[in-house]
Amino acid sequence: MKFPKEFRQILQNAEKVVVFTGAGMSAESGIPTFRGEDGIWKKLRPEELANFNAFMKNPELVFEWYQHRRNIIEKCEPNPGHYAIAEMEKHFKKVTIVTQNIDALHHRAGSKNILELHGNITRNYCLSCNTFYNSNEIKFIERKPICENCGGLVRPDVVWFGEGLPQDIWNEAEQAAKFCDLCIIVGTSGVVYPAAYIPMYAKEANAYVVDINISPSELSSRCDLFLSGKSGEILPLIVEEIKNMKDY
Ligand code: OAD
Repeated sequence: MKFPKEFRQILQNAEKVVVFTGAGMSAESGIPTFRGEDGIWKKLRPEELANFNAFMKNPELVFEWYQHRRNIIEKCEPNPGHYAIAEMEKHFKKVTIVTQNIDALHHRAGSKNILELHGNITRNYCLSCNTFYNSNEIKFIERKPICENCGGLVRPDVVWFGEGLPQDIWNEAEQAAKFCDLCIIVGTSGVVYPAAYIPMYAKEANAYVVDINISPSELSSRCDLFLSGKSGEILPLIVEEIKNMKDY
């Protein structure tokens, strides 16, 4: 893949980079995306599973659905795209990963500066006393996930429909976007807000914005460059380009 000159210059000179990722980032690791033909929301109704009322009505069902997704995620490995992003930290002054994904694959690939806008499926917490639990530590009573500390209900530490994003993480992501030189969007449909504001903040702040996706998204036409293809293939090529250009 030959990258345009303008993008190559940005890669050479950028200091602060924001990588904004969505479910397409992990598709090549074997984790289903949400929208599209094989997407999760084609088969299941988010209003029955991914919201607080659904959990209170049927905690067993909702928790089992998250356990099922955890089992899938645990068996998956980061793909070459995750590793390429982790490697970018060596080549820029600051790389901030702002992810909508809850699968923790950026962590497992070795990235350090990760802001999880929608939470993390490996964590859980008690609704009553806020005690945190890893997924393998939870005790169940009649299939309900129960806090050992206070007997309250334990929920996954993910953001559900209708819930706000974690404020401190959002503030940090917003600041990173408003002060970056380059924003790389990876594998998101860009339809879920407020997350999708992140690349737009970068654009408004005159950063160069690149979108990597197998097909154009809601965000693509507003970007400086659209790179069509799989992120697991394109991101390693970007890192190669950086290594070839930078004078070490
Ligand atoms: P979507 O499922 O909406 O979009 C996935 C995007 O990835 C699509 O635009 C695909 O074209 C693209 N894609 C698929 N495979 C790819 C690949 N190998 N390389 C590059 N792109 C690829 O997922 P998100 O945009 O992440 O929210 O969805 C946003 C939010 O909606 C999620 O965080 C989740 C969901 O409801 C919550 O759970 C709060």
